[in-house]
Amino acid sequence: MAEKKDLDFTYTTIDEIFRLSMGETADYSGAKYDGDFTLTLEQAQKAKHKFIADSLGIEKGSKVLDMACGWGPFCQYVTQERAASCIGLTLSEGQAEACQKNGMNVLVKDCRHVKPDDFGTFDAISCIGGLEHFCSVEEWKAGKQEKVYSEFFEMLGNLLPKGGKFYMQTMTFSKNMINYEELDIHAEKGSAPHVMALMVKEFPGSWLPYGPEMVIRNASPVFKIISQESGRHDYIETIGQWRKKFRKFNLKKYMLYLSLIPKYIMDKEFRHQVAVFRISPNKVCFEKNIMNHFRLVFEKI
Ligand SMILES: C[S@@+](CC[C@H](N)C(=O)[O-])C[C@H]1O[C@@H](n2cnc3c(N)ncnc32)[C@H](O)[C@@H]1O
Repeated sequence: MAEKKDLDFTYTTIDEIFRLSMGETADYSGAKYDGDFTLTLEQAQKAKHKFIADSLGIEKGSKVLDMACGWGPFCQYVTQERAASCIGLTLSEGQAEACQKNGMNVLVKDCRHVKPDDFGTFDAISCIGGLEHFCSVEEWKAGKQEKVYSEFFEMLGNLLPKGGKFYMQTMTFSKNMINYEELDIHAEKGSAPHVMALMVKEFPGSWLPYGPEMVIRNASPVFKIISQESGRHDYIETIGQWRKKFRKFNLKKYMLYLSLIPKYIMDKEFRHQVAVFRISPNKVCFEKNIMNHFRLVFEKI
């Protein structure tokens, strides 16, 4: 799986830039436009929160665990809009500090290893954009990907009562995914081998499931699937909106961008990693159907 240092690279490095661009407690996962791109990004993220909270049956007094909580948008929604209680878990120090500063109950903890002894059991659990980080390239190469997911669902089952709901949304590989051997950072810009090589650099330690089937299959000893839908087109729109916001001028943010220039000049690996500000590999992967994105609601059996 992606280790803490990987996630600190991905999320803590951009922590302040992200909050200055999107807002203190914004989402860093696909929004729910349902194809209506007249909605603002904020409206579509709110629609996502409502959909998840409704799917999970979250109401006043519910005890919720938000795994991989990022900057805490869903925790904030369920506590403020549903009067529920929420514990958020992240592996990024920067995100946890920001969430705590914003009044949320968020801890740095690996959500793949939560026991009932840690916080008790929950009425509902969410994991929005976390599963992408659970299996590393090395684990996939060693044939351990299914094991990573099945162990995760087994652990999850101990945290919910029978009939308890779990929501996850995750990127998956899709029908145009290429062979790993074809990934090439020097390939033609924007080609499948190039964008997939950038993806691996942007998200170190992270390899995606091969379709929702792989996730559902590994959940099946403990969970049945209640609903599934693709959010691929919605994710393309989400990323387009993020790019505009990352570019929008803000003096403090632009000073932060400037402070990264020496590292950019000296560190070739970092140059590849921040190439994502120019090309957006995940957007291209969704457009080319190399990747898809799914919203999955499960029920404990
Ligand atoms: C794409 S962000 C999504 C954040 C948030 N759920 C949202 O929708 O805005 C991925 C998050 O997964 C977290 N994460 C990845 N692996 C994790 C793990 N094993 N334990 C806890 N958090 C993890 C990262 O720290 C980051 O907060």
